[in-house]
Amino acid sequence: MKKLFLIANWKSNKTIEDTEKWLHDFSEKVKIEPLNLDNKEIIVCPSFTVLEHANYCAKNLNLSIKIGAQNISKFREGAYTGEVSAEMLESLVVYCIVGHSERRKYFGETDDDVIEKIKFLLGYKITPVLCISDLSQLESYVNRGKQIIERAEEIIFVYEPPDAISGGGEYKPDSPEDANLNAGKIKERIGETKILYGGSVNSDNVSSFFSQPNIDGALVGQASLDPLEFLRIIKNA
Ligand code: PGA
Repeated sequence: MKKLFLIANWKSNKTIEDTEKWLHDFSEKVKIEPLNLDNKEIIVCPSFTVLEHANYCAKNLNLSIKIGAQNISKFREGAYTGEVSAEMLESLVVYCIVGHSERRKYFGETDDDVIEKIKFLLGYKITPVLCISDLSQLESYVNRGKQIIERAEEIIFVYEPPDAISGGGEYKPDSPEDANLNAGKIKERIGETKILYGGSVNSDNVSSFFSQPNIDGALVGQASLDPLEFLRIIKNA
């Protein structure tokens, strides 16, 4: 049975109090209906400000979830106001999303920036969760960073077409067949590795993506903000 990765991308949502409540509600529900996580890895990616508290709560509540970040600095350290480096994150997370299309769109992040971030993450043993919008972007990454192929097994790839990302509460997923086709092309290019799908995944459509042979999990935005909906996704996966 393939191992599935379910990654909650909370984006710029949730305060410390909200996070505590999410984890508490998640935990209460799991107590009543235990999860079978034999073949599933659950990862929650909140904002930097709550990483430490999320770790603390997850441990206290005895939750089998890992904590991830949504971004890191492309610089090692120094005079880069506002930046959070891989070294700072090392003790807080095991995963980190990189190259999300929203970072490219709103913060001008380039392919070279993404490659620099991946180098730092791999150096600090944080698993990069690399978002790929299309196959030409993958090609650009492959040309810019030898790590993409040489260390592909240490990277989780996400095929996430920007048009499929939910907006204003509205879901507009890619078709599972198209997602599978593109995930297959990514595997052909870089070798056998984990490819997740991202874009409007929810509890109603998750099983149609996970039944596709090339899809090993999902990056979930909107639907992960509600702990009970995220739990339904995990169950229906
Ligand atoms: P969505 O977001 O699930 O709300 O479409 C996914 C993402 O942007 O990572």
